[in-house]
Amino acid sequence: MVDLSKRVAVITGGASGIARALCRQLGREGVRAIGVVDFSDAVDGVCREVNAEMGREVLAPFRGDVTDRAFRRRVFDDMKSRYGGVTTCVPAAGITRDAIAVRVDKETRRASVYDQDTFEKVVAVNLTAAAYWAMETVASVAEQRAASGAGRWKPTDPIAGEVVFIGSISSLGNKGQVSYAATKAALEGVSATLAKEAIFYGVRSAIVHPGFTDTPMVRAMDRDLLEQQILPRTQLGRLLQPEEVAEAICFMIKNPAVTGSLWADAGWHPPA
Ligand SMILES: NC(=O)c1ccc[n+]([C@@H]2O[C@H](COP(=O)([O-])OP(=O)(O)OC[C@H]3O[C@@H](n4cnc5c(N)ncnc54)[C@H](O)[C@@H]3O)[C@@H](O)[C@H]2O)c1
Repeated sequence: MVDLSKRVAVITGGASGIARALCRQLGREGVRAIGVVDFSDAVDGVCREVNAEMGREVLAPFRGDVTDRAFRRRVFDDMKSRYGGVTTCVPAAGITRDAIAVRVDKETRRASVYDQDTFEKVVAVNLTAAAYWAMETVASVAEQRAASGAGRWKPTDPIAGEVVFIGSISSLGNKGQVSYAATKAALEGVSATLAKEAIFYGVRSAIVHPGFTDTPMVRAMDRDLLEQQILPRTQLGRLLQPEEVAEAICFMIKNPAVTGSLWADAGWHPPA
């Protein structure tokens, strides 16, 4: 198992929901440090609260936008100077901008398509940023190895780092989520590619696909939709708790035998 006390992590979207639960879980499991990234002011309070609970300064807050490249650079540089290089990343910051892909106006009978700027915004946050925070983590480990003169990773070397992406059951396609589903499906490709490339430096990559989880993202959904369309199609008949998904991510980080994709979906059966 991975020794978490040697791990320096960056978790984006950590002020809320699944990523906040993950910060707490990794803190409990003894991770050395986590840079908690979010554009919400709440990130400071989350870090204070969890640090107080742990009795040590395990979480360091970073307020900013994950799509901002200069901010990303600052976070990695700062984590390196404080803790000696990031090894682990869960780029969890994500947004939904749900709307039907093609809609016909009943009055004008004209068809309109999903707003392209909105589509690109969802791609920028959920896909491009997630991929780049992950690649920056691989780069951080690669540099640490190069600095120590280590070459290609060998099975006798310890695993040096890991990335766990957060996909979604929507990656299989979900009505009203053309942009969100596209980004979550695309993360499969990013993760599978990094899994092949980054092991050169001893870094693993994997993806977890959560089902509907009780976070602000899902609480913002229409209550009737939730009760009539979602819960009846979920074997467990309830929303997942963020702690349950956090546990699955933690398992993927800790156990190097786990690769590829893990479906933490509460038995979700998508409609046609
Ligand atoms: N809740 C679910 O049912 C569910 C299911 C499957 C996958 N997911 C995925 O899990 C991840 C976490 O979702 P959640 O439900 O915990 O969401 P959430 O809305 O509770 O938290 C997301 C966090 O990301 C932050 N964020 C969003 N855009 C940002 C940006 N540009 N820069 C910095 N921070 C930003 C928000 O401020 C927020 O704190 C997301 O990637 C989401 O797509 C969620």
